[in-house]
Amino acid sequence: MKILITAGPTREKIDPVRFISNHSSGRMGYALAQAALDAGHKVTLISGPVSISAPEGADLINVISAAEMAESVKKHAPEAHAVIMCAAVADYRPAHPLDSKMKKQSGNLVLELERTEDILATLGKNKRPGQLLIGFAAETDDLEKNAVDKLRRKNLDWIAANAVSDGFGTLTNRVTLFHRSGKKTVLPLGRKSDVARDILKEVLS
Ligand code: PMT
Repeated sequence: MKILITAGPTREKIDPVRFISNHSSGRMGYALAQAALDAGHKVTLISGPVSISAPEGADLINVISAAEMAESVKKHAPEAHAVIMCAAVADYRPAHPLDSKMKKQSGNLVLELERTEDILATLGKNKRPGQLLIGFAAETDDLEKNAVDKLRRKNLDWIAANAVSDGFGTLTNRVTLFHRSGKKTVLPLGRKSDVARDILKEVLS
């Protein structure tokens, strides 16, 4: 199978030296890419800026911003049998990024943010028959409720729910998988390589 996997954070430019981002390390997405390669699949890995090495054998595409990730995912998704969106894509970006370094002023600063495209929701709208769409949900509260809501809203086949405290920027993760049919699969806390293997086994079976 051809599997498209996204990983890592995105960076949204404020000015040439500042950006908005998050703590995603890319490890979960890279572990999924490695597990997919180990299982004999062809992998395209679209990655935000991370400091780990990509698995050998993956077609690596480096992107920085949510807009670049959206463009790359939409280009490669049509040929993928399965798309796994593990990246922590920014939901907002500065509405007016500057080309010169912003000068400090007295008093507070209000930054206007605008929505980025919801890449997964776009894929869900244009899903071709037979294509598997798998999302992730990282939550601090109401993990199951929020994850299932995203599964339905974005027209996904599966969603992998993880608590922010369990998986964001960490070496290990604890994931619960929810299928559109209502099936729920609880995976044990483990190294991301083991969790990735278990996720693929379940969603591709
Ligand atoms: O990188 P690590 O340190 O290993 O951490 C892994 C992880 C915690 C980042 C990963 O397991 C994870 O949960 N990734 C999704 C994090 C997230 O931001 O989820 P979300 O609930 O905001 O988004 C839901 C889904 O929509 C995700 O599949 C996301 O990729 C996708 N999305 C979100 C925003 C957006 N603009 N476009 C999207 O496609």
